[in-house]
Amino acid sequence: MKVVAVYSIKGGVGKTTTAVNLAWEAARDFRVLLWDLDPQGAATYLLQVKPKLKGGVDSLVRGKTATGTAVRSTPYEQLDVLPADDSYRELDLMLDAAKKSTQRIEKVLESVADDYDVVILDCPPGASLVAENAMRAADIVVVPLVPSPLSLRSLDQVKGIVAESSRPAPILGFLSMVDRRKSVHWEAVESLHAERKEVADIVVPSAVVVERMGTERAPVATYAPRAEAALAYEELSKRVLSAVKAKRAKPKR
Ligand SMILES: Nc1ncnc2c1ncn2[C@@H]1O[C@H](COP(=O)(O)OP(=O)(O)OP(=O)(O)O)[C@@H](O)[C@H]1O
Ligand SMILES: [Mg+2]
Repeated sequence: MKVVAVYSIKGGVGKTTTAVNLAWEAARDFRVLLWDLDPQGAATYLLQVKPKLKGGVDSLVRGKTATGTAVRSTPYEQLDVLPADDSYRELDLMLDAAKKSTQRIEKVLESVADDYDVVILDCPPGASLVAENAMRAADIVVVPLVPSPLSLRSLDQVKGIVAESSRPAPILGFLSMVDRRKSVHWEAVESLHAERKEVADIVVPSAVVVERMGTERAPVATYAPRAEAALAYEELSKRVLSAVKAKRAKPKR
């Protein structure tokens, strides 16, 4: 089982959009679990799952709820969700109070290691204990970068947090919400990929078709498979899965 964390300290850069589209792409070949770690529950909503976690996240991170029983299926084959609800607002405090407080997410996932080939973590923004947990569990950290002079800074902040982890994962950045009419976006696209080896030459354009995910409650490729954004997420998924060497594990039964 390989764990992909979609993360940035910055809010609103396209983490959830990326997590949902990556999860759908990966589910074409693998058994995928998307874990929504954000109390906003946007990934849960986009995949048409009820924002309800029996017993709350406290019980899950303490090992009192079996992970498998909290998982919900989506309209898509091989794609399940571990939904977020309001209890996630207190997740940081709960982690802080728990033993081995940076390894709780990793621990929760251990029990479903035979059920899924790929786990996607949709992280909330910010440098929290939730983020530290996600970085510790991750085999790769995917970072959406909105082109601006500040995007290098947000990439470096993520690098700093990953470097502090007891198990640092490689980082894969890509350009998100790119508006080609803006010269500052063009410049950032060119310089980021040229200057930073961890930034892939993948560009997800800022597009109405992506915004439509909110009304369709579906990944882009399900209703606009030829859209530039859908193709960019397809390519991103290929790179991520090959970087972590995802493979189909044999089911237990
Ligand atoms: N490529 C894109 N083109 C147009 N709109 C986009 C694109 N990517 C994301 N959006 C929109 O931008 C908003 C923020 O995206 P998203 O929720 O994925 O960001 P986030 O980083 O997960 O935010 P948060 O930090 O709040 O979790 C959403 O309304 C989403 O529909
Ligand atoms: Mg989000």
